[in-house]
Amino acid sequence: MEGFVIEGGTPLTGRVRVQGAKNAALPILAATVLAAGTYEIHDVPQLTDIDAMCRILQSLGAKVERTGHRVTVDTIGLNQTHIPDELMSRIRSSIFLMGPLLARLGKVTISRPGGCAIGKRPINLHLKGLACLGVEVAEEGDIIACSAPELKGAEITLDFPSVGATENIMMAAVCATGETVITNAAREPEIVDLAAFLNKMGARVQGAGESTIVIQGVPKVQATNHSVMPDRIVAGTLIIAAGATGGEVELDNVVPEHLESVIESLRQTGLAIETAERGLRVQAERKLTGIPHIVTTPYPGFPTDMQPQMLALLTLCEGTSRVTEKIFDSRLKHVEELKKMGAEIRLEGDTVTVHGIRRLTGAHVCATDLRAGAALVIAALNAQGRSVVAGVEHIDRGYERLDEVIAQLGGQIHRVALKKQ
Ligand code: EPZ
Repeated sequence: MEGFVIEGGTPLTGRVRVQGAKNAALPILAATVLAAGTYEIHDVPQLTDIDAMCRILQSLGAKVERTGHRVTVDTIGLNQTHIPDELMSRIRSSIFLMGPLLARLGKVTISRPGGCAIGKRPINLHLKGLACLGVEVAEEGDIIACSAPELKGAEITLDFPSVGATENIMMAAVCATGETVITNAAREPEIVDLAAFLNKMGARVQGAGESTIVIQGVPKVQATNHSVMPDRIVAGTLIIAAGATGGEVELDNVVPEHLESVIESLRQTGLAIETAERGLRVQAERKLTGIPHIVTTPYPGFPTDMQPQMLALLTLCEGTSRVTEKIFDSRLKHVEELKKMGAEIRLEGDTVTVHGIRRLTGAHVCATDLRAGAALVIAALNAQGRSVVAGVEHIDRGYERLDEVIAQLGGQIHRVALKKQ
């Protein structure tokens, strides 16, 4: 097990480039199953979740080569329809392979992906959407066997704008017979990036990024190349880290429009954020003040993936703030850890009330999921004295060498091996 040792108090200053988006790269890698051929995917972040996706593709018969941030996938020899249980349980995004495998081979068998630290994470919306396209779904215990001799376009309305379900249905529908309309689709920018990739493959996807997506089925699609969009959550995390340490940071490879709700909230606290076309600059000019109430909602609302990091900042903002987590049923475990650092914070149901204090105090804390881990790193960078953040394996799932990025900005952080607890 590894941890980060952090000496708080150094303002982050300097300039870094933000990594490619994990949550765009994962479905795009899954989409390479759709057509036999060789794909070059660029700006893929080096993360353990990406490692796991590449291993899944290899277990299905694809060849995968990685050189830095470029992943070359050859799916000509892909011929397996069962995703190994060990790999299914490792990453939630293994579920994204259902649509492409059904489209390519007409079959897929998976074990139900586990819940995780942030909630139960059912897959009913995925299965319901695929069934609308003519997929036969047989559930026996934890095994889900799906088959689709032919995929037919359909009108599908999602009960909730699920990101993964929208992506799975999109990929299953690109070669279905006829037109598919997804209503109440998720609008996240990662879905727009996936649709751009699918259209480069020859698909006909319109409306990605809006609540209604229309897909005209095409007879076949072919391999192509793509460069993954910037990671808006990593960018938001670094902006908040700069704010929490009273620093001044420039970020390259950012699309500010993807962070509109986050930037608007951060400006409310008093953070000075200047945006440019593909970058931004953040400066903590004065004492920060709290925000009456933030509620996480689907894009373009305030993203759940930024809730823990925002909460860490609000523990330092003058006055009283409230944060309500509406997307996941168990994504507030970092509250207890922030309390260990002296945060004046109270959890009631899905809402956290926090009274800002001037400075946190270093402590030994534990990451429960990747964004909670990032929040604890932010808190530790502000705190008086030394902190140890355990559970860094969670952080490595979504942040490429976060310790090195922060050290590059002057943060006092280094990675250590921790004795098993
Ligand atoms: C994606 O997860 C992201 N992961 C998550 O990022 C992100 O938090 C989430 O979207 C919301 O934005 C990837 O893209 C790999 P959902 P996903 O389906 O697709 C419920 C991170 O930190 N739901 O939009 O799994 C679900 O339980 C990760 O990078 C159902 O009820 O999220 C949740 O409450 C964490 N039935 C809500 O919808 C379903 O069939 C949102 O889930 C599917 C989802």
